[in-house]
Amino acid sequence: MIDGKKVLFSGMQATGTLTLGNYLGALKNWVTLSEEYECFYSVVDLHSITVRQEPAELRKRARNLLTLYLAAGLDPQKNCIYYQSHVSGHAELSWILNCFTYMGELNRMTQFKDKAAKHADNINAGLFTYPVLMAADILLYQTDMVPVGVDQMQHLEITRDIAQRFNAVYGDVFTIPEAYIGKSGAKIMSLQNPQKKMSKSDENPNASIYLMDEPDVILRKFKRAVTDSEGQILYREEQPGIRNLLDIYCACTGKSPEEAVKEFEGKGYGELKEAVGETVVSVLKPVQDEFARLSEDKSYLDSIIKENAQKANYYATKTLRKVQKKVGFPERIR
Ligand code: TRP
Repeated sequence: MIDGKKVLFSGMQATGTLTLGNYLGALKNWVTLSEEYECFYSVVDLHSITVRQEPAELRKRARNLLTLYLAAGLDPQKNCIYYQSHVSGHAELSWILNCFTYMGELNRMTQFKDKAAKHADNINAGLFTYPVLMAADILLYQTDMVPVGVDQMQHLEITRDIAQRFNAVYGDVFTIPEAYIGKSGAKIMSLQNPQKKMSKSDENPNASIYLMDEPDVILRKFKRAVTDSEGQILYREEQPGIRNLLDIYCACTGKSPEEAVKEFEGKGYGELKEAVGETVVSVLKPVQDEFARLSEDKSYLDSIIKENAQKANYYATKTLRKVQKKVGFPERIR
């Protein structure tokens, strides 16, 4: 609890170009959540170097992502928006938690298996202990809630296990975090293969809407979206392409699938695609404009980065000192 509010933590990696899926599935909800919770939203650059990065590129992307957090509407006075690498407590707590995590547990992580297969030439120890760093992120702020997608649920589970194990030895040190499953929980699928999640690393550029796509590009991609030959606009499993378009439409407008289906009754797929495309443009345009404006304002951004890192450090250090004391490190002489 901070100032009577529950604490919420989440982070994103600055790898790849963010998609509409990232926006509707996460960022947009983050803004809503920031009304109710004390939120920490991190650009998790320590996680990014578990796969090789070009340094200048990583720095640029990290700044763009942080700018995008703000452009999406997160108020940096109310939310703590910062780079993970600016708070050394993440790495320090991660080390300690490494000593409370079993090899066997980490071996079961499906994301590690996937990534190890994908980066067979660089299966480094950081990739293996990635979930421990994520646990440190979360536990460092005594987090109550973590909004995560299904792909990160296993990491949240291991975080809870580590926290409970630690607490069982040393008393109530960590808050045990819970998953926050958003009510709309929009899972946006690829426009080219609606069985697959929309991904920032898809080879097919028509599969994903990128947050910075120009309006005409967005409209064109929707025009090319894969549908089916049923010819009717219904919200059901047998029509994953149409359902995905309706999901996107609903996530943008706040309407329910039933309302959307009614609205498009008797209309053709072409009309649906156009309407969804235009809705997406109208949602992304203000974010894009604000991103452009903020990007120009270097001194403002820098001041946000500095102040928020200080705030994050304050809370992180509080937890870290407690943990260090519990495990038996010598007291600091001040
Ligand atoms: N691993 C998460 C992802 O790739 C990002 C992340 C890092 C995160 N630390 C976190 C998400 C803590 C939630 C909480 O999506």
